[in-house]
Amino acid sequence: MKLSVYRIAANQHRTTCILDVKTENPTVKTFTFKDKICTRAKPGQFLMLWIPKVDEIPLSILDANEDGTVSVAVKKVGEATEALHSKKVGEVIGIRGPFGNSFTIKNGRILMVGGGTGIAPLLFLTKKLASKTAKLVFVMGAKTKEELMFIDELEELCSKGNVVATTEDGSYGVKGLATTPLETLLTKERFDMLYTCGPEQMMRKVFDLAEKHRIALEASLERLMRCAIGLCGSCVVGKYRVCRDGPVFTASQLREVKSEFGVSKRNFNGKKIPIV
Ligand SMILES: Cc1cc2nc3c(=O)[nH]c(=O)nc-3n(C[C@H](O)[C@H](O)[C@H](O)COP(=O)(O)OP(=O)(O)OC[C@H]3O[C@@H](n4cnc5c(N)ncnc54)[C@H](O)[C@@H]3O)c2cc1C
Ligand code: FES
Repeated sequence: MKLSVYRIAANQHRTTCILDVKTENPTVKTFTFKDKICTRAKPGQFLMLWIPKVDEIPLSILDANEDGTVSVAVKKVGEATEALHSKKVGEVIGIRGPFGNSFTIKNGRILMVGGGTGIAPLLFLTKKLASKTAKLVFVMGAKTKEELMFIDELEELCSKGNVVATTEDGSYGVKGLATTPLETLLTKERFDMLYTCGPEQMMRKVFDLAEKHRIALEASLERLMRCAIGLCGSCVVGKYRVCRDGPVFTASQLREVKSEFGVSKRNFNGKKIPIV
């Protein structure tokens, strides 16, 4: 299928049934369904998931397999995600996508830093990279032990001792923020590429450290999304539309939007508000 035809097909609204619901932690559930078009999705891409009678929301793709099964990990934060969390196997949802660009696949020595549901696209990326890299270290951060996700899957994919978990309250792993062991790793070892996804203030710190240690970086950003195809302008960051130019941005692109990255975003009325 040609790229333009594929893009048109991706934006067509489809309905599908939920095949599986898995509770990952007290606020996150993974939903699995079949969708032929999303099967071609790459790590970093997202889909728009429609919850009938409620809303349509952007979600990163956690996994997409040749058999047509696709998964997303969803944190309950408001009306739409709460409605989705109440859905059971067999219930109908709507899908558009996959949208946006994806992480660049690199070999060599790889470092990943994920927080919250930002771990989802990085787990998808780890599955694609794990067998090809010289070294893969995954640093993940959460507020408490309960919030940590996908540790078993990541420990299976990365070799022993290469998954570093941090919790702010010290209930698991290293006490503190993910950026603390990250700084130690960057000081001690050389890495070829750093991928990050998670809360934007965390990603801004990761970006600043990557700049200091002169390491290439890609970060996946979140902004308010409506159309997901570059038309409405809801998702702008500087000169970029996150849905179309991103969600994955390189360090050189992030340098251009440094005054907004980790600092401000647009609300539903288009007003700039601080990222807290
Ligand atoms: C590219 C991308 C990938 C994402 N991937 C995931 C993921 O894998 N898992 C996950 O749990 N969440 C993900 N999100 C965030 C998710 O879209 C929001 O949490 C969800 O839209 C909240 O909807 P709500 O009605 O439950 O909450 P609301 O009460 O509407 O809002 C709660 C918070 O979510 C933000 N939000 C609301 N609507 C949108 C929207 N249309 N676009 C972006 N943010 C919104 C609001 O600004 C607010 O901060 C992603 C967002 C983007 C842009
Ligand atoms: S969501 Fe409409 S331009 Fe990005």
